[in-house]
Amino acid sequence: MQKKDIDWSKLGFGYTPTDYRFEAHWKDGKWDEGKMITDSNIELSEAACVFHYAQCCFEGLKAYTTVNGDIVTFRPDLNAERMMGSAERLEMPAFPKEKFIQAVKDVVAANAAWVPPYGTGATLYIRPVMIGSGPQIGVAPAHEFIFRIFVMPVGAYFKGAIKPLKLTVPEFDRAAPRGTGHIKAGLNYAMSLHPTMEAHRHGYAENIYLDPATRTYIEETGGANLIFVDKEGTIIVPKSDSILPSVTRRSLIDVAKRLGYKVVERPVKLNELKDMAEGALCGTAAVLAPIGMVNTPDGDIYFPSGMEKMGPICTKLRETLTGIQMGEIEGPEGWVV
Ligand code: COI
Repeated sequence: MQKKDIDWSKLGFGYTPTDYRFEAHWKDGKWDEGKMITDSNIELSEAACVFHYAQCCFEGLKAYTTVNGDIVTFRPDLNAERMMGSAERLEMPAFPKEKFIQAVKDVVAANAAWVPPYGTGATLYIRPVMIGSGPQIGVAPAHEFIFRIFVMPVGAYFKGAIKPLKLTVPEFDRAAPRGTGHIKAGLNYAMSLHPTMEAHRHGYAENIYLDPATRTYIEETGGANLIFVDKEGTIIVPKSDSILPSVTRRSLIDVAKRLGYKVVERPVKLNELKDMAEGALCGTAAVLAPIGMVNTPDGDIYFPSGMEKMGPICTKLRETLTGIQMGEIEGPEGWVV
């Protein structure tokens, strides 16, 4: 198989239409078999529920070329399960787990020419998405849905890859208590668009959202979870019912424990950040991206790990996780598929 003629190491995190995508349709109360198609567009009714009432959820995972030249994905079962949870909360039909995993494999295999080679720093980003496609004008769920999986080669989510980021704390909230923060609903990301652009306009890469009820505790950023390392070397992971259960975060917790670090998942106050030694954003797209400083209403906090490079414990976690994904390090059974 001839790889596409792409300068893989220069890729950013952006959309490129690739050759094949999988699409299935829900109609008359059931999913059809689904099939591989080539058209990157979707034609929809002007009244499609997704346009008006944001009935949409999605996933993000990646495929990697390992050191042995195999093409693998990472824990697609967790994305399948999370999407089933998102669909349930949004009154959408669950897409069956085994079919999800098979469709991921099929789309990656069909687009093998687009999977970045080992050692380029690039990966194939896989985007499963489900939309309420049926026409709906009264506020109610659609009766018809489209589930699609498409892929594209990507580089680092943040420019500069592992250069420490400057973050800020927005005046806006991301997700209400008992709302939809814990699912991967498109609407959560819609809520983050204006605060993200405000952050960029002020020179910050991302926002740290606070719990809306008390604005005391840290939740997550617009597109990734957060983890910290305190000055004793303990990994501190913010806990809240409104945080999306990131596959990367859950994997990092496991990796950290295997490496012998103490990991504590608990609510973390914004004013505790000054006591941390390291911090990072974590997610499929972000991988593990270091935090250099955080602008807060009480002043700027600079992490002791500095503005030049990722701290030592985050570096160890990142190298171990990506080593597992790239087949350089043996990971737990079933992670690499
Ligand atoms: C991911 O990390 O895969 C995400 O979905 C985050 C973002 C690109 C929306």
